[in-house]
Amino acid sequence: MSGGVYGGDEVGALVFDMGSYSVRAGYAGEDCPKADFPTVIGVTLDREDGSTLMETDGEKGKQSATTYYIDTNQLRVPRESMEVMSPLKNGMIEDWDSFQAILDHTYKMHFKSEPSLHPVLMSEASWNTRAKREKLTELMFEHYNIPAFFLCKSAVLSAFANGRSTGLVLDSGSTHTTAIPVHDGYVLQQGIVKSPLAGDFMSMQCRELFQELGVEIVPPYVIASKVRSTQVHSFQSSLGLAHLYHVVCNDCCALSFQTVIQDFQASVLQVSDSPYDEQVAAQMPTVHYELPNGYNCDFGAERLKIPEGLLDPSNAKGLSGNTMLGVGHVVTTSVGMCDIDIRPGLYGSVVVTGGNTLIQGFTDRLNRELSQKTPPSMRLKLIANNTTVERRFSAWIGGSILASLGTFQQMWISKQEYEEGGKQCVDRKCP
Ligand SMILES: Nc1ncnc2c1ncn2[C@@H]1O[C@H](COP(=O)(O)OP(=O)(O)OP(=O)(O)O)[C@@H](O)[C@H]1O
Ligand SMILES: [Mg+2]
Repeated sequence: MSGGVYGGDEVGALVFDMGSYSVRAGYAGEDCPKADFPTVIGVTLDREDGSTLMETDGEKGKQSATTYYIDTNQLRVPRESMEVMSPLKNGMIEDWDSFQAILDHTYKMHFKSEPSLHPVLMSEASWNTRAKREKLTELMFEHYNIPAFFLCKSAVLSAFANGRSTGLVLDSGSTHTTAIPVHDGYVLQQGIVKSPLAGDFMSMQCRELFQELGVEIVPPYVIASKVRSTQVHSFQSSLGLAHLYHVVCNDCCALSFQTVIQDFQASVLQVSDSPYDEQVAAQMPTVHYELPNGYNCDFGAERLKIPEGLLDPSNAKGLSGNTMLGVGHVVTTSVGMCDIDIRPGLYGSVVVTGGNTLIQGFTDRLNRELSQKTPPSMRLKLIANNTTVERRFSAWIGGSILASLGTFQQMWISKQEYEEGGKQCVDRKCP
């Protein structure tokens, strides 16, 4: 199948960018995704009416149906024995049933349309395996019956969104921070550097801080009333039932728990402009923050100390004796693994993306660190969008641009090509 058939705007191509933190999905050609919801989903093996198999007389031999709870509204509702899981592991699809449940949900609730009507462009991790790419291609054509498909590395899409086809893409999301060299629109596999120091690591440190302070984090929906205090963290449960409260807190409120911490992360944390110094940190203006349970406090030195681990893991808590790379090192190591001829092009376009890079002061400090490490013969330029939307959705935006370019239309794997060439055509058409 060739150009002209799928003209971006006319056919309503869809773009999916699934990260470990959120799923971004929308129409190609638009500025931002129509949907952005958590990637984690709730799973129960119970009946939808809440009764468990044990309670349903006479049906004990029958297989219990798996019910998925997807999207923010569904996830915030406390449900007994609901487990929270993610279809992704290490940025790649691991659990295909829940992955499909998310796609079904997106088509039905967000696009309100039939999959067979829209070509699909999906992002993927740069280290995605051949078997997973082929399986995904097969799923999209066989199960969803889509007319055309394309898979593109999210780093390439982020570079495109920032107007570059060559550059070093530094992406710090929730589960990992990566530096990925992109040259003429292709990922240079030998230069991929990954570190687990990202948003979830920040959350863990914040959680530890609250543990040290003796503060229990409770999601807003279990709070009926608050007692204002910096000493005691008292609250009254709106659910009343101690039993339910425990069940709820085991797992299914994981999202709310996370949400509380993530809000704290975004509001309070700040990366210091120079390496962490106890005395400087002590002078730091404090930020007042109140948790849903009423505990409130002024945070000073912690604001700088927690995110310091991203840039300098040597003193980070819980990582003693670690050999992990700080963000600056992730970048320089990646560039160092690429051919010397293309290094200037990489340092000249360091694209900073991912939600975790939105921590205040992150890009300034990175700029400072990299300036010290960049060879004097090379020009360093950081490209970091100022808006939250562009930083969090860069891969999606790149996909939206790509899928609506006239010149791209011949790149799609058409259904006909799939039928003739099989799932292996993805290896050839989507490098
Ligand atoms: N304004 C903000 N300030 C600080 N951190 C933020 C902000 N907004 C989002 N985050 C953090 O960014 C992370 C999510 O980033 P992003 O949406 O890029 O992840 P993802 O692409 O879904 O996940 P991954 O790349 O790990 O697969 C979360 O840890 C979240 O807490
Ligand atoms: Mg990401």
